[in-house]
Amino acid sequence: MGHAWWQEKIAYQIYPKSFCDSNGDGIGDLPGICSKLDYLKDLGVDLLWVSPVYPSPMVDQGYDIADYRAIAPCFGTMGDLERLIQELKERDMHLIMDLVVNHCSSQHPWFQEAVRNPEGKYGKYFYLKEGKDGQPPNNWRAEFGGSCWERLPGSSLYYFHTFAKEQPDLNWENPEVRQEICDMVNWWLDKGVSGFRLDAIVNIKKDLRFLDGPPDAPGGTCDVSKMLPQDAGIAPFLNQLKQVCFAPRDAFTVGEVCGVRQDRLREFGGPEGYFSTLFDFDHCMTTYAGPFWHQRKPFDFKLWRGTVFQSQKNAGTEVFLSNILENHDQPRCASTYLLETDYSFYSVTALATVSLLLRGIPFLYQGQEIGMRNSRFARIEDFDDLSTRDQYQAAVKAGLTPEQALASCNRTSRDNARTPMPWSGGENAGFTSGTPWLPVNPDYQEINVEADAMRPQSVRGYYKKLLALRKDPAWMDVLIYGALQPAFQEADRLFAYYRTSETGGKRILVLCNFCPEETVISFAQPFGVLLDNYGSFERQNEQIRLKGYQAVVLRCNV
Ligand code: NOJ
Ligand code: CA
Repeated sequence: MGHAWWQEKIAYQIYPKSFCDSNGDGIGDLPGICSKLDYLKDLGVDLLWVSPVYPSPMVDQGYDIADYRAIAPCFGTMGDLERLIQELKERDMHLIMDLVVNHCSSQHPWFQEAVRNPEGKYGKYFYLKEGKDGQPPNNWRAEFGGSCWERLPGSSLYYFHTFAKEQPDLNWENPEVRQEICDMVNWWLDKGVSGFRLDAIVNIKKDLRFLDGPPDAPGGTCDVSKMLPQDAGIAPFLNQLKQVCFAPRDAFTVGEVCGVRQDRLREFGGPEGYFSTLFDFDHCMTTYAGPFWHQRKPFDFKLWRGTVFQSQKNAGTEVFLSNILENHDQPRCASTYLLETDYSFYSVTALATVSLLLRGIPFLYQGQEIGMRNSRFARIEDFDDLSTRDQYQAAVKAGLTPEQALASCNRTSRDNARTPMPWSGGENAGFTSGTPWLPVNPDYQEINVEADAMRPQSVRGYYKKLLALRKDPAWMDVLIYGALQPAFQEADRLFAYYRTSETGGKRILVLCNFCPEETVISFAQPFGVLLDNYGSFERQNEQIRLKGYQAVVLRCNV
């Protein structure tokens, strides 16, 4: 595969509401993002994915869009967005917008018009169906709870929604809808946006028979995500986007492809695929044991490691995955993959090392670079996220006590990642001079950007070194383009792999002792040290002694 302009880049996700507030209204905004570009450039970031900033009733925090070609006043103006594009360009950085086109907001004029006249042009922009015996057309359960079908106001018809009822799904079978979307995508690309993260993009194809699914919850409902067709029916939709928008403008695209089978990675993200790259979520789902959060199992290191390696193997050297440890839908990685008692500079940097040197594009999420942890919510009312409230109800219905249900939400809630970015130990963590829209993490005096920078062992400082190593021209043929081979898989708590250049002439070993105890490894090959989160380790004869959560990157002689 020839090298594309984005392959050597590092991406960083901004959740705009919580990044930096410039005007004291408690809500992060575009001028706030502009004020932190030097911070991001200095870290080593090239691509900035900004979660939705379009006008929205914010039922799902901007993932319910009421106007695809404007900026929500709480985030700023179109002028602010144009300035962001310009300021990024000056730093050789790029803006990646969020493209949310599986659904829009029920406040979007298209939907309002469909309500006014279901038989007219805009009725065909949505999936409208008659019910069955006074019930919704089928038993599918929406991602945020309740039926996927809601009565169209003033009509006997129901409309379909994969997520909240305020997020009606757009009818991709209708060529006029596809044309509207392509025009809008090109309008943004022509403005200077470099690409898109495609939200819930596998959901755009429905099984149009809308048959009942196998019940998996009390009440006989079936999780809608199980009903996504796994056939090739989505291909024409995605090819149209690629051919009309992305390819002619050489855009970078990353698909949020939850539920896509591993044997289809190439179709979605290979050299001829629909997108530049894909988020792989399999390794985020190793604790799942059903559709509900309260069913989650404890974290299992070996299962997680095996899942990461399996995805890498399936991607091979053809598919370029986008690798994440966290995002705005996941709890903080330091709380998910580490025991609270193991939390330290070493453990969070070990986690960073194994993830950021995988093959693919690293996507960091705001606050990850200072080792942020989950927040603490005392009452269910303190959560903002609609899906957390739904999961709480589901847990209580399943027989958990309110305390147990709350604990499960504290562990898994999306709000853990959505607390304001702690820039300092000052008032409101330096995020706003007003009242933050979501309370800051109670640990902000310990974990914030300023405090981290003052420490001799700065987490962000380590991330900087790691990203600089990835971009070092001497190692790009290994760390960017090289293959990955798992190593030491027989060891219970080692996360280790080789990266090898395409020619086989250069080799790096990433070696991480993923536990608090010392581990001794037999390793006979000669090597040099490229990075080490402790700064030194013991090496005797043919043995390496690693301390708890020690992570080293070794240059091997081949
Ligand atoms: C995935 C987004 O990441 C999530 O935040 C959102 O709730 C759903 N898609 C619906 O747009
Ligand atoms: Ca603001």
